[in-house]
Amino acid sequence: MTSNKSKGLSIGTHIGVIGAGAMGAGIAQVAAAAGHQVFLYDVSQQVAERGRDRIEKVLLRRVERGKLKAIDAAAMIQRISVAPKKSDMASVGLVIEAIVEDLNIKREVFAQLEAITRPDCILATNTSSISITAIASTLRRPERVVGMHFFNPAPVMQLVEIVKGLATDLKVVGCLMQTARDWGKISVEVASNPGFIVNRVARPYYAEALRFVEEQRTDPVTLDAIMTQGGGFRMGPMALMDLIGNDVNFSVTTSIYHATFQDPRYRPSLFQQELVAAGWFGRKTDRGFYDYRSAAVVPVPKKQQTSQDAPLSGYQIGSFSEVQGVFFMPSDGRSAASVSQDLGKPVLVHDLYPSGTECKCIAFSTSRGVSELLCVGFANSAARAGMWAFRLGDGPGLPLGRTLAMIANEAYDLLLHGTTKAAEIDLAMIKAMNYPLGPIAWAKKIGLERLLCILDAIFTETGDPRYRASLGLRHAALCSQETDGMVKDD
Ligand code: NAI
Repeated sequence: MTSNKSKGLSIGTHIGVIGAGAMGAGIAQVAAAAGHQVFLYDVSQQVAERGRDRIEKVLLRRVERGKLKAIDAAAMIQRISVAPKKSDMASVGLVIEAIVEDLNIKREVFAQLEAITRPDCILATNTSSISITAIASTLRRPERVVGMHFFNPAPVMQLVEIVKGLATDLKVVGCLMQTARDWGKISVEVASNPGFIVNRVARPYYAEALRFVEEQRTDPVTLDAIMTQGGGFRMGPMALMDLIGNDVNFSVTTSIYHATFQDPRYRPSLFQQELVAAGWFGRKTDRGFYDYRSAAVVPVPKKQQTSQDAPLSGYQIGSFSEVQGVFFMPSDGRSAASVSQDLGKPVLVHDLYPSGTECKCIAFSTSRGVSELLCVGFANSAARAGMWAFRLGDGPGLPLGRTLAMIANEAYDLLLHGTTKAAEIDLAMIKAMNYPLGPIAWAKKIGLERLLCILDAIFTETGDPRYRASLGLRHAALCSQETDGMVKDD
């Protein structure tokens, strides 16, 4: 049993969980596994009992698979009791709320909890999108309200974001950082802001993918292949949105968009809105970006053909060189057409292949005047370097460069505002999203100036303010050769 004492604060042995749905039940399981006595409360006793039954089933499955001893499972389930009334929370040292995502209902529940609980009881919310400051603001003692944001499924996912509202006492933050660690989790600290760390920094991964497909530059399966086989991401953005549910993903994006006064960086996608309107939520409805029905044809990424007959382009991937009157270069964010106009000759641009990952494919696009034979030649060059090539429709930026630049932009924007620290961002994105590298470390490996150049070029060509560089990224790039930049990232 862990009974965390952090600088005088102690959550003690008994904790309460309000809401016995997907998250509440998972959190109750985590706390019981750490040895706490847990009171589980929901709108009715039956709903809470159903939540407890679900936990029991999960534990029994783990016993069947040999992952948990029957005696330990029995002890864990015994430690979870259904609380018929909220007043059963009177003696606990920590309450975690995991009810419906609605500010007014949460405020009402927190007001009741404030009246019932001990003055030193920590009141935590598992909200993923509501301001902690707003939830706390109507209470007499907002300093004891804090975000404790678990990821789904809570017993499996390692990361917990500990979110500080404007009034939250730092001792409360410290206590829950330690509590999460005591419960076997990895905790990161962040100031309350729309999306906290993970949901905010991850937005471009979905948004840019949606735009590449909307702009008809490629199709979902090719895009997913580029991001997984080229970027080393565990799952492609389209497949991931289908797994999360397009309804849920769209609603998170929309909520961040409105919470930031319609900042165009978070503008939701009309394409995804149509999917939601159609009820094509993804795996759970059998249709999304992909068709999961049994008779559906499984799509395959559209590779650029290689051929023994075609000449190698003679091009060394990554270099700037002219071959047979065509200029070949890594993308700097400009479309091939735009570079071609500047140079007065046909151009082929290819995506970056990010260091730190094993890159098995590379995307490219061309201006007019590049023959099919030269594209085959480029694919031959890529094959020599161990990569497939994917030809995309031309436009500003290619998937990896554009997405990684936008992800870095979000990360440096959080640093600019002192919302969290670089190490926390990197840890959070690796643990919650399985990113192969943390965004800050990755951006530094690729080169901040390079990513900034890509963003600036896309911004110039599109005129779309969603691509404006954060001052955080710009200053970090400018200062990257100096020891103390304007943005402190540690
Ligand atoms: P859910 O719909 O599975 O469960 C919510 C539970 O709260 C239901 O059992 C409902 O009866 C109960 N409830 C509603 N109003 C209540 C009230 N006034 N008093 C007591 N119980 C009440 O929802 P889920 O997915 O568990 O989400 C809960 C919270 O966790 C939300 O704030 C959500 O944003 C957050 N969250 C959800 C994640 C997810 O992937 N589902 C991930 C991280 C956070």
